[in-house]
Amino acid sequence: MSQNKLSIGLFGFGCVGKGIYDLLQTDHTIASIKKIVVKSSDKKRPLNTPILSFDPNDILNDPEINLVIELIDDAKAAFTIVTSALKKGKAVISANKKMIAENFRELVHLQKKFKTPFLYEASCGASIPVIRNLEEYYKCCTLQSIEGIVNSSTNFILSRALEQNSSFQIALKEAQELGYAESDPSLDTEGLDAAYKLSILTSHAFGKCLDATAIFRVGINQLRDIDFEYARREKYKIKLVAFNVLSKEGKLCGVVAPKFIPPHHPFYQVDDVLNGVLTKAAHGDVQFFSGKGAGALPTASAVLSDIAALYHNYTYSYIKFFSDHIPLLENSFYLNIFISFPIEKREILQYRFLSIDESFSNQQVGYITGVISIKELWKLKCTYDDISIIIFDLHHEDIEENESREWAFELQNV
Ligand code: HSE
Repeated sequence: MSQNKLSIGLFGFGCVGKGIYDLLQTDHTIASIKKIVVKSSDKKRPLNTPILSFDPNDILNDPEINLVIELIDDAKAAFTIVTSALKKGKAVISANKKMIAENFRELVHLQKKFKTPFLYEASCGASIPVIRNLEEYYKCCTLQSIEGIVNSSTNFILSRALEQNSSFQIALKEAQELGYAESDPSLDTEGLDAAYKLSILTSHAFGKCLDATAIFRVGINQLRDIDFEYARREKYKIKLVAFNVLSKEGKLCGVVAPKFIPPHHPFYQVDDVLNGVLTKAAHGDVQFFSGKGAGALPTASAVLSDIAALYHNYTYSYIKFFSDHIPLLENSFYLNIFISFPIEKREILQYRFLSIDESFSNQQVGYITGVISIKELWKLKCTYDDISIIIFDLHHEDIEENESREWAFELQNV
C-alpha cells in the first residue's frame, strides 16, 4: 500500500459496520468510505443514497477503491467477496472468524500470489491486539502455550449465571440484545466460535493451521446446577476457555472447554463482555492481555487499527507458518477434570479415569474429579450427551511411557 489515503469499500452495515462507519466520520485522515454494499434493500439505514449500494461490483469493479472491508455475517458470501477483492489487487480487512478459520491456507496462498495484504485483527478478541502480537512479537521466543477467553457471549452468560443466578436463556437474550451473540447463538454456546478463534490464533502462534473440527470442544449448554454449586463452594468461577499447549517433544493440543478459574488466576476478573489471552513463552514467561471481546466500537477499533497498519504497509509475514518446525497436533495430553452426570452413568464413567480424586453422588446426579486423557474424554463426549465436563488444568505429572503410548492418538484421525 502507498501512503495515499485509502479509499474503502465496506461490505455490511450491521453492528460492527456501523461502528467503523462512525469511527471514520470523526477520524478520516488516512481513509474514507467511498461505497457501502448491503444485502437487504428493505431495511431503513441512516445513510445517504449515493454511498449505499446493493451490488458487490460497485465495490469490486471500482478501481479507485483500494481497500475492501468485509463485515457481513454469511461466511460463504464473505469468502467470495474476500477472494474476489484479493484477486483484483485490493487490500482486505475482515472480522469473519468462521470464514478465515475454514479457509486459512487458501487465504494465505492468495495473499502471496496476488501480493495483496489481508488483515483480520478484529476476528479474535475484538479490541485485544492479539494476532499481530502473536505474529510479530514471538518470532525469536518460542511460545509454549496460549490460553484465552475468546467468546464474550458465553463469558457474559457464565458471569450472570454464577453471580446473579440468572437463567441461561435470560442471559443469552441479554447477550443477543447487546450485540455480542452470533446470529446463530449455538455457535457461541457450543464453543465453535471459540474454536474458530483458537484455530486462527494457533496459526499465528505456532504456524500450525488447525482445523476447528480437530479441536477437542465442549460448550456450555450441558452445564447443570451441581456444577455451579461446586464452583460456588470452592470459590471458583467457570469460564469457557480455548487453549493450546506445546509439549517439549513439539506436540500440540487444542482444546475448547469450560474451566474452573480460581481467584488467583488472571482470568478470574475477566467477566461479562471481557476477553483475555494468556501466553507463556520460553524466555518471556507469562503475559496477559485483556479487553472487550465484542460489541460495535471495541470490534471496530480493531478494524481501525488494521486500516492504520495497512496504511503503513503492514502485512502478516506468516513466518512460523512457512517454517520447517511446525508442531504436530497430537492430543497425548492428560487433564485434571470434573465430570457431572445422571447417577445411572456413574459406573461407566469411573472406569475411564486414570486416577480419581473425589467422587460424589446423591439420588439424581453425581460428579467425579480426577485425571483423564483427552482421547478418553473425547470418546465420552461423543457417546454421552448428558455429561458435563469442566477442566481444572492440564495434568503436568509424567505418565508412564507405555501408558501414554497406549493413549496417544492423532486428533486429525478422529
Ligand atoms: N459472538 C462473538 C462473541 C462475537 O460472543 O465473542 C465476537 O466475536
